[in-house]
Amino acid sequence: MASFDLQAIREDFPILSREVDGKPLSYLDNGATAQKPRCVVDKLATFFSHENANIHRGVHYLSRHATDAYEQARETISEALSLTEEQQLIFVRGATEAINLVTNGLASELQPGNEIILTVMEHHANFVPWQILAEKNELKLHFVPVLDDGSLDLEDWKSRFNENTKVAAFAHVSNVLGTVNPLAEMTAFARERNVLTLVDGAQALPHGPVDVGGLGCDFYVFSGHKVYGPDGIGCLIGPKEKLNTFPPYQSGGDMIEIVSIDGTTFREVPERFEAGTPNISGAIGLAEAFRYMAEIDWHAAQVHEQSLLKYATEELAKLNGIKFYGTTADKVGVISYLLESAHPHDVGTILDSEGVAIRVGHHCAQPLMRHFGIAATARASLAFYNNQEDVDALIRGMKKVDKYFG
Ligand SMILES: Cc1ncc(COP(=O)(O)O)c(C=O)c1O
Repeated sequence: MASFDLQAIREDFPILSREVDGKPLSYLDNGATAQKPRCVVDKLATFFSHENANIHRGVHYLSRHATDAYEQARETISEALSLTEEQQLIFVRGATEAINLVTNGLASELQPGNEIILTVMEHHANFVPWQILAEKNELKLHFVPVLDDGSLDLEDWKSRFNENTKVAAFAHVSNVLGTVNPLAEMTAFARERNVLTLVDGAQALPHGPVDVGGLGCDFYVFSGHKVYGPDGIGCLIGPKEKLNTFPPYQSGGDMIEIVSIDGTTFREVPERFEAGTPNISGAIGLAEAFRYMAEIDWHAAQVHEQSLLKYATEELAKLNGIKFYGTTADKVGVISYLLESAHPHDVGTILDSEGVAIRVGHHCAQPLMRHFGIAATARASLAFYNNQEDVDALIRGMKKVDKYFG
C-alpha cells in the first residue's frame, strides 16, 4: 500500500539524520544527486557480501544468480516505466552516456543539411553531444528560447520544424528552472512530422513516476543516482527496431555473436550496447530504488513538495533584491535565484556554514545562463523527503547572507 509518512520516509534515508559542523544537515541539492534509502544501501551490501559474480558467462551458482538478478532489474525498471513490447531498456552509466550512445548511433544516418531542434534550457549532456555530431555531419542546430517565466517558447519550437528536421531533443524537466515541458504535445507534434524525439528525463523521475511507454517519445534517458539509486548506472530507453540499426557504441565481450579473424557479427539489443562487464550491482541497486519508489504515495508526495516550494519561494521573496529564474506554475521543486548584493558562491558558502547544501554555479547549462544574461545562480532543489525544517534552515541562512551583504 502506497503511503506518505514524512517522518518514516526520512528515517529510511540514513544520511538525513547526520550533522554538518554541528548543525543538522538540510540537503537541498537533490538536483545534483539524490540521497539513497537504506534498502538500496543494504541491497548493495548484500550483493557484495553474498551474491557477487560476473554475469552471462559462468555456469556456477553465483553467476547464474547474479545474471538472474541483473535481468530481473531490467524487468523491474521496465515495468515501473510501463515500457511497451517495442521498447528496450539498456543499462548505461547515466543520462550523459545514454545521449552519447544515441548521437553515435545517428551519426551514420544524418546527412549534411539535416536539422536538429534543441532548447536553451538543456543540460550540457543534451547539448554538447548534438553539437559535436552537428559539426561532424554538417547539421543545422536550432536552440529554442524560453519565455521570461522559464517556460519553453512552444510556438517558436513548433515553428522550427521543416522537411529537413530529423531530431528534436529536449528535457522533460529543466535542472535549473524546474520547468516541466508539455511532453505529450511535443512528442505528438514531432511524431506527426516523422521527427525522432529524445527526452532527457534526468530531472523528472525523481519527482514521481513517468509512463515512458505512453509518452510517445522515441528515446528516454535518465541517471540512477538522481532517482535514489547508485551512481554509475542509468538507462537508455528506445525502440528496439531503431536501436538495432545503430552501430555498436563500444565493442568487446558480451555484445558479439561470432568473432573470427575474418570479421565479427553483433548481437541485438540490449546486449549490443552493453559491451564488457556491466555495472551489475548498480543495476540491482537501481531496481531496488524503483521498488522503494513504488511504495510512495506520489500524489501526497507531490502535494508536499509543492507546498514546500510555495513556502520557500514566498519566504525568499521577502529578501532584498532577489530575482527568481523559473516561475512558471508547471514546475517541480527547484528554486534558482540571485541576490543583487551577493555572488552565488558566497551564498553557497554561508549556507554551508548553516548545514544547508545547495548548488551554485551555471548548473551545466551555460547557454541558459547566457540567455538570461547571467553567469550563475544559487539553486535549492527539493526531494519528497525534505521537510519544513530544511526550508527554514535555508531561509535563516539567506537572512544571514542578506545581513552580511545587503
Ligand atoms: C537535465 C539533466 N540531464 C542530464 C544530466 C546528466 O546526468 P549525469 O551526469 O548523471 O549523466 C543532468 C545532471 O545534472 C541533468 O540535470
